[in-house]
Amino acid sequence: MASNVVIMAAGKGTRMKSALPKVLHKLAGRSLLQHVLNTVEALGSQQRTVVITGHGAEAVEAAVAAPGLQFVRQQPQLGTGHAIQQVSPVLDTALDTTLILNGDVPLIRAETACALVEACGGQRLALLTIELDDPTGYGRIVREGEQVRAIVEHKDASAAQREIREVYTGMMAAPTKLLQRWVSQLSNDNAQGEYYLTDIVAMAVAEGVPVVAAQAGGETEVLGVNSPLQLADLERRFQRQQAESLMEAGVRLADPARFDLRGRLTCGQDVEIDIGCVFEGDVVLGEGVRVGPHCVIRNARIGAGVQVAAFTHIDGAQVGSQAQIGPFARLRPGAQLAEEVHIGNFVEVKNSTLARGAKANHLAYLGDATVGERVNYGAGSISANYDGVNKHRTVIGDDVLIGSNCVLVAPVEIGAGATIGGGSTISKNAPAGQLTVARARQVSLPGWQRPVKKPK
Ligand code: UD1
Ligand code: CA
Repeated sequence: MASNVVIMAAGKGTRMKSALPKVLHKLAGRSLLQHVLNTVEALGSQQRTVVITGHGAEAVEAAVAAPGLQFVRQQPQLGTGHAIQQVSPVLDTALDTTLILNGDVPLIRAETACALVEACGGQRLALLTIELDDPTGYGRIVREGEQVRAIVEHKDASAAQREIREVYTGMMAAPTKLLQRWVSQLSNDNAQGEYYLTDIVAMAVAEGVPVVAAQAGGETEVLGVNSPLQLADLERRFQRQQAESLMEAGVRLADPARFDLRGRLTCGQDVEIDIGCVFEGDVVLGEGVRVGPHCVIRNARIGAGVQVAAFTHIDGAQVGSQAQIGPFARLRPGAQLAEEVHIGNFVEVKNSTLARGAKANHLAYLGDATVGERVNYGAGSISANYDGVNKHRTVIGDDVLIGSNCVLVAPVEIGAGATIGGGSTISKNAPAGQLTVARARQVSLPGWQRPVKKPK
């Protein structure tokens, strides 16, 4: 299916009351406009896609720029018809259909867009419509019998026309050359003094060009965003859809209303996700993974059988099967944990590799470290990886026991099987198999007495 695709995104979005252009506000972690562009991508590669920008044009263009994507600026914004007038010269007339979408209607489905293009077929004017309980503010579809005769904007509609509940969603597909001619003939003689794209419907009717109305699949895909309230409402609808498709695939969500996916989540069988979790970027959860409440997991691969306990934050990490993470753990980019690793509360791991069975259970930091199998890394211990200029590595062999409250000053190596006494500051390599202690010796002073207050 090849057609021109025009995405209107010049409007100001006054009701957002924001410095950010409306179409750059985010829904599930992606801008409204990016949602539409991704849907257009799904239509196939033969589209010629043009985005009409105006308010915040530079920011909008910079945010969504991609090879083959064209921008046309509309300055000032004199209405939807005026917007299409600006884009008219760059439409590819070899593509006989032009699909018009809105940058602030993010959830339009590819199937629906495709159906519109097919309904047009380069010959008919195809409008996407929907019946609403409250059609206030929308353009009404005026019919004579079954035949669509015109779209009348709410502000121009008579009392009788305002009773009509079938409305124009703002999306249509039109024969390219006819669209170019029609928009050149628009006037702004109406209640808002704007050039209405919707006036082309009456022109088509007058010329005997068939006008067809395709009904949208549901309300969610045609809802636009005009205010923070509408944005939040659409966000919840979208999250509900995502939650439902995960649950249909067998994922057990404690509460689909308290689940947020801003990206892609791939789950094995028998995954359980407790309330209040946020998934971002690309996350893979293996079979049987259990995620406790209020975890944030972003760009991560979590192996089979892993338990992630409450309030854990994972970003850019890989976790081997049967590991136990949290509660209150933080895995930062480059954390690579093998099978059966345990990371407990208030432990931070960054750019470090932990081999099978290694444990850091309490209040610790591992940065730029290589940790061997079965290492036990004591409470409060720290790899001091930064000398103020450069980062250095700490290498800990298999079966090492690091006592509590140690500072390992990198670069440093602890040989396999070594034990480091609690409270040590280790700045030289420690040999394998031995106890190394680096702290002031304990002394006791016999006969020492505390000072006493003199009586007055
Ligand atoms: C438009 C339709 C109305 C329909 C409604 C659906 C017209 C005249 N009316 O109404 O029938 O029911 O959408 O939401 O088309 N835009 C520009 N340049 C402009 C004006 C608007 O790019 O000069 C863009 C906006 O950014 C937005 C879209 O066009 O993405 C629709 O504009 P908006 O003002 O929201 O449409 P309405 O006038 O409310
Ligand atoms: Ca308007």
